[in-house]
Amino acid sequence: MKLPSLLLLFLVTTLLFLTYPYHTAALTCYDNVNPLRRNQHVPVECDNNKLGKRTSVSWIKGLRSWMPFASKTLKRDVGTNAFKITLTCSAGTTLCAKVKNAFDLAGLMLSQTLQLNTAITVNATFLNFCKQMNQCTAGGGYLTLGGAAPARTIPMKDDDQAVRLYPQALVKQQTSDPSINFGAYDIVALFNSEANFWFQGDGAIQHTQSDFLFVILHELVHGLGFTSSWDDYINITPEALTPDVSITSKGGQQTIGFTEYAFDKYMVLSQTGQRMSEITAQLNQFSASSGATTVQQFGRAFKNSPQYSLAVQMFRNATTRNAMVFLPAGQSDISQAVILETSLAPYQQGSSVSHVDYNTYTDTPDFLMRYLQDRGVSLGDAIVQGGNYTGGSIGPKLKLVLESLGYATQDNPNPYRPAPSSSDSPVILVQSKTLVFLIVFMTIFLSRNTWNL
Ligand SMILES: *[C@@H]1O[C@H](CO)[C@@H](O)[C@H](O)[C@H]1NC(C)=O
Ligand SMILES: *[C@@H]1O[C@H](CO)[C@@H](O)[C@H](O)[C@H]1NC(C)=O
Ligand SMILES: *[C@@H]1O[C@H](CO)[C@@H](O)[C@H](O)[C@H]1NC(C)=O
Ligand SMILES: [Zn+2]
Repeated sequence: MKLPSLLLLFLVTTLLFLTYPYHTAALTCYDNVNPLRRNQHVPVECDNNKLGKRTSVSWIKGLRSWMPFASKTLKRDVGTNAFKITLTCSAGTTLCAKVKNAFDLAGLMLSQTLQLNTAITVNATFLNFCKQMNQCTAGGGYLTLGGAAPARTIPMKDDDQAVRLYPQALVKQQTSDPSINFGAYDIVALFNSEANFWFQGDGAIQHTQSDFLFVILHELVHGLGFTSSWDDYINITPEALTPDVSITSKGGQQTIGFTEYAFDKYMVLSQTGQRMSEITAQLNQFSASSGATTVQQFGRAFKNSPQYSLAVQMFRNATTRNAMVFLPAGQSDISQAVILETSLAPYQQGSSVSHVDYNTYTDTPDFLMRYLQDRGVSLGDAIVQGGNYTGGSIGPKLKLVLESLGYATQDNPNPYRPAPSSSDSPVILVQSKTLVFLIVFMTIFLSRNTWNL
């Protein structure tokens, strides 16, 4: 029985070869470089295989984390406040203590609504923008309060096969995949000590003051992924919206294309009921043939392409009341969707789209993610004005958004999870194929015990 032995040897070799971890493409993540500009980021290599940081033991752990029921192995005790704040503060001990307190309170509030199994790390900085960053407002102009953004976003493959950028804070809840090189922080936050902030325990809030807790809670939610990529990446004065223009490597080949964020998967044009991801796919028909090697080149060619008019239409939608909505996972009734901020004219970078509609959600439990935070209204006041919602400052619609993105809550204990993006999928696909292979082979082998090794 020479032939079956050879066959067996061949099969075992093939099996070993197929299960050996290999990667054809690097994994490119994006790091935010300016918390005040959420849609500005730089590519970073984040594949531990490419960075030479992966071990075979952790590779097996990585596979395990993607198998069914693996979430059990991800249960970790993070305490009552899953947010770990690293604060850099140069505003004196008293004020800095209040700032730290507010951050901890905001973290605690989010930890009560979300079931977080992995700590979320925040790089928070509180400083004088004018003196320390040379960002001064001339004569009582608009003062920047601050901002926050995901410190790193990671490409993941969604169930519609599109690769979208997911915030690290979320990816960490869903996988311990050792091939992903996570950055030191999940959220980067920067706040201006010059702003007239009110803190809990300061006495009555003045009409000129902003509740710091209100502001940072709002910003931390942006950092968790309440952020759309739809913006103008091409023109200085916005006139056409697209998803993020990014350089991705596919099979060693660098291509420039439009990449959505996790949030964008659920965006719908209310007039037509069309998913905005369909528009992205149409826009990417341009990318596939652009041949551009730099972002500038890509932008110029895009402006002359037939697809550009679609981006202009998206810009018009972004400045038309109620035109864009977030349709939560599992919902099909557009009247139940979350109305996004498309009433601002002219379009305001950072405020338009990535917020809930101001008029609709003022004095409702979903007040938190409006683009404007009313001065003189504390977070507590806003909750009362919203009707004393039992969930506190995380309103029911906001909760649906976070659940759709993939955060677990008491009502949504097994949230949707995207798969690792293309660079990782060969290993996973091969693994399940190999398993089938092995089972079929063993069945044949066991039923034919005349084979000798
Ligand atoms: C934290 O954020 C600040 C301001 O955004 C940045 O300058 C600093 O480098 C960050 N620190 C680390 C350790 O990433
Ligand atoms: C919004 O986009 C749709 C689809 O491209 C388009 O038909 C519609 O005219 C746009 N709305 C506005 C107000 O421009
Ligand atoms: C909300 O609570 C406040 C204070 O606890 C109370 O004065 C107010 O009547 C309540 N409003 C509603 C609508 O229940
Ligand atoms: Zn905001």
